[in-house]
Amino acid sequence: MRGRYKKWAKPYLEEHPDLVLSSIQKEDPFFQAAPLALEIGAGKGDFVLQMAQKYPETHFLALERDLSVCGIMAKKIEAAEVTNIRVMNADFDRVHDSFQGLKFQTIYLNFSDPWPKKRHEKRRLTTADRLEKMAKLLTENGEIRIKTDNDILYAFTLEQKVDKVLTMVDHQDQYVFDESTDAMSEYERNFRSQGKAIHRIVYRKIQ
Ligand SMILES: C[S@@+](CC[C@H](N)C(=O)[O-])C[C@H]1O[C@@H](n2cnc3c(N)ncnc32)[C@H](O)[C@@H]1O
Repeated sequence: MRGRYKKWAKPYLEEHPDLVLSSIQKEDPFFQAAPLALEIGAGKGDFVLQMAQKYPETHFLALERDLSVCGIMAKKIEAAEVTNIRVMNADFDRVHDSFQGLKFQTIYLNFSDPWPKKRHEKRRLTTADRLEKMAKLLTENGEIRIKTDNDILYAFTLEQKVDKVLTMVDHQDQYVFDESTDAMSEYERNFRSQGKAIHRIVYRKIQ
């Protein structure tokens, strides 16, 4: 997700250190006190905000690499006065090492950039090596939950060889939205209103 560059985003993110983390401090009580969840590529934050309201006992880390988009998300979370989310403006590839030691019950990938051209497939968030890195960050029985509208990304993800660390416990071509456990981002709402099928894959960590 790329929008117009927002000049205010950088100072805004810097001025809200309680909400916006510049690095991971494992001893931070936020990471100690509750079940953890991670969204990679959280965009403008609609999904994480709804999930944090639905699961107030879970602590959510929302990772977004685009500075302006991250600013929009942080502003929204601050306005909603939701306290069980922390935001980080960073790329998963650059920060996953610093997450070692944190254990997430669930990692969410919602409508990740599909990089549809074959020559760009290594950039997809669901390459086997990235899924393996995510698996290392999961609790026992922790899950990676992936939703996409994109047929190429869906087929590519199904083909990834990750069976040493993850079991695919669910994959649906036409995922029926489950209000009781899930939330819709702006992307999902738009795609559904256009009648597009939403695909979903759930992996569980192998112990
Ligand atoms: C298509 S948008 C979807 C946003 C949101 N998940 C939603 O459903 O509305 C994908 C987002 O993932 C972010 N992103 C892509 N690769 C990332 C990475 N490696 N680390 C962090 N964010 C990433 C992009 O900047 C973009 O905002």
